[in-house]
Amino acid sequence: MSKFLALIPAAGSGSRMGNELPKQYLSLNSRPMIYHAINTLYQNHWISHIFVILTPSDDEWVKYNWSEFSEKLIVLNCGGATRAESVLNGLITAKQRSLVDTNDWILVHDAARPCLTQTQLDKLINELANDKVGGLLAVPVADTLKRSNTQDRIAHTESRENLWQAQTPQMFRYDLLTKALHNTMNITDDASAVEAMGLQPKLVLSDTYNFKVTYPQDLALAELIIQKRNNP
Ligand code: C5P
Repeated sequence: MSKFLALIPAAGSGSRMGNELPKQYLSLNSRPMIYHAINTLYQNHWISHIFVILTPSDDEWVKYNWSEFSEKLIVLNCGGATRAESVLNGLITAKQRSLVDTNDWILVHDAARPCLTQTQLDKLINELANDKVGGLLAVPVADTLKRSNTQDRIAHTESRENLWQAQTPQMFRYDLLTKALHNTMNITDDASAVEAMGLQPKLVLSDTYNFKVTYPQDLALAELIIQKRNNP
């Protein structure tokens, strides 16, 4: 039986947040932001382990108490220079430690998407568990998209027909994802590496609650959403 394993690359510096502290550790409802993604993955009955990939020089992680997640949470200090490198290093290290089989499903999730819900997670797993390729949560683009020239003037308007915003988790089998990332590291998500192999990952309809905290104002919004969920 294939297992479902989550992998959270959390070795980034989050420079766009304009903060010294890497964004996965920024405070969100009195917890480091990454806590919320780990907690949602931990509560899901399909997922047997959660790997968190940290940079080898990380000295923040140990400042918090993670014991509530027991041995289901496994920290690997093997992050790389890019997100893709961190994911690949995590996959390789997990295999070296016999924590994963080649046929297992890997759900790669950004530490900076704290508002992921069980409904979205279950939908992703249910829709892809028998898929040959795998896929990802995504939402159709809502805004009109403008392509700029170098002077920030509109060069043309892009059609938004069939355009989606990729989210995470992105779910692929271990062997396919490892092969894909070995071939192509110049990418910003895992699906792109799989696409570069000529495959077509499935887009699983999500919603905008699962947004990525990128700018300071995103943090306030995530906080409101989580507070409302905790006190409906
Ligand atoms: O910077 P960005 O928002 O694209 O990062 C997405 C995720 O990838 C974050 O969880 C971040 O910590 C992680 N990352 C990583 N290793 C890097 C860069 C980013 O694990 N070298």
